[in-house]
Amino acid sequence: MALPPRFLDELRGRVSITDIVGRRVRLIRKGRGESTGLCPFHNEKTPSFTVTEDKGFFHCFGCGAHGDVIGFVMRSEGLEFPQAVEKLAAEAGMQVPRETPEERERAERQATLGGAVEFAAKHFEQQLRASAGRLGLEYLKRRGLTDDTMRRFRLGFAPDNRTGLKAALEKAGIPEAIAIEAGLLIKPEDGGHAYDRFRGRVMFPILDRRGQAIAFGGRILDQGEPKYLNSPETPLFHKGRVLYGLSHAQKTARETNEIIVVEGYMDVIALAQAGISNAVAPLGTALTEEQIALLWRMAQEPILCFDGDNAGQRAAARAADRAIPLLKPGLSLRFAWMPAGEDPDSLVRAKGAAGFREALSRMEPLVEALWRQVLADRPLDTPERRAGFRKDLGEAVGRIADKSVAEAYRQEIQRRLDELFRPQGKAGFQAPAQFGVQKGRFGGRQPVVPIGGEAARRGITSMQRIPYELILIALVNHPDLISRHCEAVGEVDFPRGDLDSLKRAVIDLAAGQPHLDAKGFRNHLNNLGFAATLEALVARTGHMKFTLPSADLNSAEEGLLHVIGLLREKLSVKPELAATAQALENAMANPGDPTAETTALSRFEAARQMTLDGESQRRDLDRAPGWGGED
Ligand code: UTP
Ligand code: MN
Repeated sequence: MALPPRFLDELRGRVSITDIVGRRVRLIRKGRGESTGLCPFHNEKTPSFTVTEDKGFFHCFGCGAHGDVIGFVMRSEGLEFPQAVEKLAAEAGMQVPRETPEERERAERQATLGGAVEFAAKHFEQQLRASAGRLGLEYLKRRGLTDDTMRRFRLGFAPDNRTGLKAALEKAGIPEAIAIEAGLLIKPEDGGHAYDRFRGRVMFPILDRRGQAIAFGGRILDQGEPKYLNSPETPLFHKGRVLYGLSHAQKTARETNEIIVVEGYMDVIALAQAGISNAVAPLGTALTEEQIALLWRMAQEPILCFDGDNAGQRAAARAADRAIPLLKPGLSLRFAWMPAGEDPDSLVRAKGAAGFREALSRMEPLVEALWRQVLADRPLDTPERRAGFRKDLGEAVGRIADKSVAEAYRQEIQRRLDELFRPQGKAGFQAPAQFGVQKGRFGGRQPVVPIGGEAARRGITSMQRIPYELILIALVNHPDLISRHCEAVGEVDFPRGDLDSLKRAVIDLAAGQPHLDAKGFRNHLNNLGFAATLEALVARTGHMKFTLPSADLNSAEEGLLHVIGLLREKLSVKPELAATAQALENAMANPGDPTAETTALSRFEAARQMTLDGESQRRDLDRAPGWGGED
């Protein structure tokens, strides 16, 4: 039985080839939707196997294996075409069409309905440019749209006339019943004549992912109700499963692993005109689970833009609520807040793409939004209130279905609670208002505590921080080392505060997203609020070559292990390390001074040598029977 091409296209679109291949092959993201790894179809030591997400295929430059996602499943699991399709369809939650007569009829009906909607879209476009469309064209121009943009988004106009489209459909031989089912005409209950649904409106066709019109949103000119009239649900159009602008946005979104979700049609269009072509919008409703899943097929952390006002906060809370049970390692949402009274359309018109990007730069991760939502304005000044707060957070985290994400959330929430409820001087408990959580204010996360002050408060000197900083920065610049040495790093007892938080974030992130490269890793940490900490660390440790991104993996690894060794042996109190740290400080205070740097490096070399000896002793001890781990 031949499967309909529409179904196969949909299937290929719904599953991510990178995900499917990624289960069998350890893939490393190369950017632009491309990943590489060791070919599963022949034996190799260096990766010549690539997967290209937006083209939807894999290719091995070594053995020539090549195909799409169905081909991959056939080859890797030894299945025939129909079984591979079955398997992928089950995974994508799709029914493989059994071509019963009813099925065939339905497919034909959809094609017929689609044809009618396409016809209407072309008709409305023509009207916009005809004399009957003058008002519509003026309106769109007034809103700053260029002719090019109007064509790209296939904008049109429905003149204020009950039979304009109806007559055109008739002339084209499209049956009235089809036009009614497609939502183009309305048939009055009382048996009167069918008439045009859209009248006196600027028409925004809603396109499927291939760019075919399946429905419309029609905006009234200037004032009136409803502002936007949308097509009803039809066999072609289910508004909860569609994202406006998807056919335009999907390519850039996949390539950049970034998709922006805005509230309205005009926002999508204005952003595209300003050069931000990866924005989509739901159709006037809160994001559905299906839409979230659709977004995750294009980017791991879609950015949701909301008004900074109360309605925007509520909408964000709803989106977070929907997404929480669905979270998966690496897949989340981010929240960006538009300045008061602006939407992306008005913002980009007033301040350009840069102004919009500026607003995006203040976005927060889902965990932060959740934290703030639960915290809201509640006072935390009694044990009961604090326990209530903890309980509500626990309930939210309890709804995360994925075990590893739930665990990472639990840790993060615990860390935040520790931070929040930490005894503060004689006050004992510090009221939340002092943590920058104030009524109606976004801006979110407390800044990560600055290095000097924090260190002093914790009773460690900035010198004593150095080995921990070296470890962290080496890991951040070489994320491949994290999984290899996760246990060793985990055992190092980091000073509480920014270093410890960063360590946990680094380990969690590596566990959740094993394929990130150094740049991606750094971006994620920045988004988690560690930008300032990382910058400070880089500035302080940059003269240690093994920490640099340019260091090769072996020297980075060697350096890392030696520092861990130093700490294990508790050399931190020994004069060798103190001298090393002193030399490092000195080198830092005199950037560009070659003597200072050489001194620091040779000191460090000496300390390393000592650790080497310590390491080999420790290894011997490790091997001795009955040795139960750390001291
Ligand atoms: P908004 O009311 O925020 O409008 O609706 P907007 O997008 O800024 O529109 P302009 O700039 O005034 O033209 C956001 C989205 O909600 C849906 C539409 O999808 C709209 O784009 N909506 C809004 C409706 O479906 N019906 C309405 O009456 C209003
Ligand atoms: Mn608007």
